Amino acid sequence: EHVHPASIAAAPIVVASNRGPVSYRRGEDGTLVAGRGGGGLVSGLSSIQRDAEGGAAVWVCAALGEGDREAARAAGRRLATADTGGHHVRMLDIPPDTFAAAYNGIANSVLWFVHHMLYQTPLEPTFDREFRARWAAYEEYNAAFADAVAEEAAQGAAVLVQDYHLALVPGLLRARRPDLRIGHFSHTPWAPPDYFRMLPDDVAGQLLRGVLGGDRAGFLTRRWAEAFAACCADVLGAEVVRDGEGRADGVRFEGRTTRLGVHGLGADGDFLRERAHRADVEERMAALRSQIGPGRRAIVRVDRTELSKNIVRGLYAYRRLLEEHPQWRERVVHVAFAYPSRQDLAVYRDYTAEVERVARGINAEFGTEGWEPVALHVKDDFARSLAAYRLADVALVNPIRDGMNLVAKEVPVVSDHGCALVLSREAGAAAELGDEAITVNPYDVEATARALHLALLMDPGERAERTKRLAAAATALPPARWFTDQLRAL
Ligand code: G6P
Repeated sequence: EHVHPASIAAAPIVVASNRGPVSYRRGEDGTLVAGRGGGGLVSGLSSIQRDAEGGAAVWVCAALGEGDREAARAAGRRLATADTGGHHVRMLDIPPDTFAAAYNGIANSVLWFVHHMLYQTPLEPTFDREFRARWAAYEEYNAAFADAVAEEAAQGAAVLVQDYHLALVPGLLRARRPDLRIGHFSHTPWAPPDYFRMLPDDVAGQLLRGVLGGDRAGFLTRRWAEAFAACCADVLGAEVVRDGEGRADGVRFEGRTTRLGVHGLGADGDFLRERAHRADVEERMAALRSQIGPGRRAIVRVDRTELSKNIVRGLYAYRRLLEEHPQWRERVVHVAFAYPSRQDLAVYRDYTAEVERVARGINAEFGTEGWEPVALHVKDDFARSLAAYRLADVALVNPIRDGMNLVAKEVPVVSDHGCALVLSREAGAAAELGDEAITVNPYDVEATARALHLALLMDPGERAERTKRLAAAATALPPARWFTDQLRAL
C-alpha cells in the first residue's frame, strides 16, 4: 500500500528520466546556480513546461551531483521554482556510489554501448563479478525511481519513462501500481538480437521484461522498434503482433500485449527561430565569421564529444577532402564543436584527447599563415551552436549510430542561406531526411570526403530548396506534439 501525503497533490502525469530539466552546481559565491541539462531528451521534454496539459505533471529525475543533492534536500520532496519553469521536479537523492555504478557503470558503459554497437568485441565486453555488482546498483537505482513514481502518481495516472537508464522501471512499477498507464520511450537505437545477445541471458531477459512491463514502448524510428520486437522474440520467445503491412505493432508475452509506437521527435521550430535571432547569437556569428575569414565556406558539426558521434572519422574525411581536392585549401574551414560529455568515463576522456590530437594534426599539416583549417571549440555554448547553424554552408552529421540526431533537424530550421546536409544513414533522422540530405556510410571515410566535396559544390538555389524541404520534415513532430501524441496513445 502506498499512501499519498495529503499536502501534496497526486500527479495525473509523471515523467521519469535520469537527467531532469534542471541541474544545480555551486557558484563561485557559494550559492546554488541552476543550469539546463543537455541532450535530445531534455530538448524534447522541456516542452511540457510550456504545455497546459503538463501543468499538473511531476518530473522524477536523479540528483546528478552535490549541487542537485543540496537543492533537493533544501526543497523537500519536490522542487518547484523559477529554475524548473514552475514545474514540479522530484530529484532522487540516490547514494553517490549506487548512482555512479548504475549511471556510469551500467547505463553509459554497457547499455549505451550495446544499443550503439560501440564495443570492440575481441577485447570487450567481459561480464564478470564487478559487472554483477554494478548490475545490482542498476536494479537498486531503477527501484528507487519506481518507488518515487508510485508515490507521486495519482490513481490511473499516465507515466512516461525515458530511456535505457530506466529500462526496468515499467515492470517494477506495474508490480507496485497496476492501476497506472505506463509508457517507456527509447531515445537511443535498439540493438539487433545478434548484438543484444552479448549481454548475459538473465540481464537481457530482465531488460526486455522491464520494458514489456509497460502498456506501450516507444521508439524514434521504425528500425529501432523492429529491433526491439526481434529481441523479444529471440531472447524471450515472445510473440510479435504485426499490422496489415507486416510491421511490428505489439509484443505479446505472458498474457499481456505491449503496444509499440514510433514517434520521431522533431525540432522545436518556433523556439529555435526566435532564439537564433537574439543578440548573443548575432555577436557569436560575427566572431565566427572573423575566425573563418572572408569568402570562405564553413563545414559545421556540433556534437557532444560522444563515441557514437564519429567525430574522428569526420576529421579524417575532412583531411581527405583537403588532400584529394586541393582547390578547397584556404577556401573552407571545418568548424567543429565537440562539447564535453560523460567525462567520468576514461574512454570518453581518451576520445576527447584523440579528437583534439587529430584536429591539431590537420592544422599542422595544411594550415597556412592566414588559414586554420579546423576551428575546434570544446566549451559548451548553445548561442554559438546556433550561430554556426545559421552560417553553415555544409553540416556534417555522421554518427556511427544515433537514435535520431537533432542537430540534423535543427540546422535546416535556422539556416540563413541554405545548408547542404551530409548525414549518416545510421542516424534515425535519415529515415525522415534521407531524400534531401547527402547520406553516407559513417565508416567510409572516402565516401564521406566525396560527400563533403559534393555538398560544397551544390548549387546555391538547389541548396536553399533542399533546406526548405529539410526544415519542413524536421519540424513535422515538434517536441510538444511528440509528447502529447504519446500521452494520447497511452
Ligand atoms: C542522449 C540520451 C539522454 C541523455 C543525453 C545526454 O540523448 O538519450 O538520455 O540525457 O544523451 O547524456 P548524459 O549522459 O549527459 O545525460
